Amino acid sequence: MTLPKDFLWGGATAANQYEGGYLSGGKGLAITDTITGGDGIKGIPRYITVKLADGTKTKLARGFDSEVPDGAVAYVDEDLYYPSHVATDFYHHYKEDIALMAEMGFNAFRMSINWTRIFPNGDDAEPNEEGLAFYDQVFDECQKHHIEPVVTMNHFDCPLNLAVKYGGWTNRKVIDLFAKYVETIVTRYKDKVHYWMTFNEINFVRDYSNLGITASKSNPQRQAQAIYHVLLGSAKAVKLVHKLAPDAKVGMMIAYILQYPYSCNPDDVEAQMEFSRDFRDFYLDVQCRGKYPNYKLKELERQGIVLKKQPGDDQLLADGVVDYIGFSYYNSMVIAAHPEGEKTGGNQMGGVKNPYLKTSEWGWPIDPKGLRITLNRLWDKYQKPLMIVENGLGAEDKVEENGEINDDYRIDYLRAHIEQMKKAVEYDGVDLMGYTPWGCIDLVSAGTGEMKKRYGFVYVDMDDKGHGSLNRSKKKSFYWYKKVIASNGEDL
Ligand code: BG6
Repeated sequence: MTLPKDFLWGGATAANQYEGGYLSGGKGLAITDTITGGDGIKGIPRYITVKLADGTKTKLARGFDSEVPDGAVAYVDEDLYYPSHVATDFYHHYKEDIALMAEMGFNAFRMSINWTRIFPNGDDAEPNEEGLAFYDQVFDECQKHHIEPVVTMNHFDCPLNLAVKYGGWTNRKVIDLFAKYVETIVTRYKDKVHYWMTFNEINFVRDYSNLGITASKSNPQRQAQAIYHVLLGSAKAVKLVHKLAPDAKVGMMIAYILQYPYSCNPDDVEAQMEFSRDFRDFYLDVQCRGKYPNYKLKELERQGIVLKKQPGDDQLLADGVVDYIGFSYYNSMVIAAHPEGEKTGGNQMGGVKNPYLKTSEWGWPIDPKGLRITLNRLWDKYQKPLMIVENGLGAEDKVEENGEINDDYRIDYLRAHIEQMKKAVEYDGVDLMGYTPWGCIDLVSAGTGEMKKRYGFVYVDMDDKGHGSLNRSKKKSFYWYKKVIASNGEDL
């Protein structure tokens, strides 16, 4: 038994972490361009630099449900370092990078289009031709190497102007502005792109950096409304792809993060069920079934939240059901009804420590079997084709004196996950379209803004302060992954 012959093998990136050229070619500022670098090991958070309503300049920790004062406007402080500005400069290295991907045997490359390259302010009357031309060149390069682009329409970036002028996704107008952007890119690239995804990790939209900076937890009504708008935006995008590029497939993208109950105590199982629904399943349910699930409607009712709807919204959600589910899988976590006094689990989301699993240097539990469980759960529940669009180990790499980078730890992580992925396909019969591990060419970490947390098969000479030649070199995992792809996953 083997993986399907047309299985998509590749790697994944995102514009705000990889592209750089933050003001080149007419690009406008995105909120992500106002977020500083942090340090995950030393516990230094990333900050969003803002001016408060009275003009005072300050830094606010970026993160889940952060509190952002009304009237705060993000800005770029000339004296600070922002890792998205140069990132690892795909903007000027795309030919070299795509050639390296081709050398590994990629037939798929997941990347995102930067909204602010196409509409620099988000609400411009006309798109920016230079930005459109840039992605034409990227897709042509992919085509030259027989690589299918898998394109995320929105990966953690929102034009800064939309946050300032409209309050980001809290404002319904942004749905139409997003739809205009989607219509522009799908029309332009319909002959070059056959796989689309709407919002990256849509269950992280609560993070204000994605929504516009006014949707924090301080106002649950406003936050719920913003999430509703994002879901409508995704549904519009799905409809546009179906209309403008009927042969293309359009998916959703979720951060899966498998949750286990701490014990067989029904209290723990119940706590886990509620956590999973709120954090993840709600977004899957809406995008795969075309309506808000009852548990969410009841929750909104209990909280006294009334979504402001317009006629046609329900039909739009129903028509916006996705063709496939893309998801990221890095780790699992443990949910306890009474976590007090327990050690924390140390992944992006906290939780309780899992004593059965080892962790990465950044404290993320390593759980390959969780990937098989995840694939089965998603397939059993939704019966939609799946794509693993992110997976991988963030680790610090050492360049030896002879230039070698012996990242055996990364190979071990990926091998163990691919084994489980194959088991889900070959043993369980899950319908899996492809595998694009994260950060195939080193790029900036989203969570910490560091360069030293690397995922790639290709090393990029760049440090946490933005110093480095940006030269590319192949790691040991480069040769290993090449062999894996050449054997369609048989030679691990
Ligand atoms: C996912 C994101 O959350 O995980 C990526 O879609 C991100 O943008 C990746 O880079 C890994 O997380 P981190 O924080 O290690 O970069």
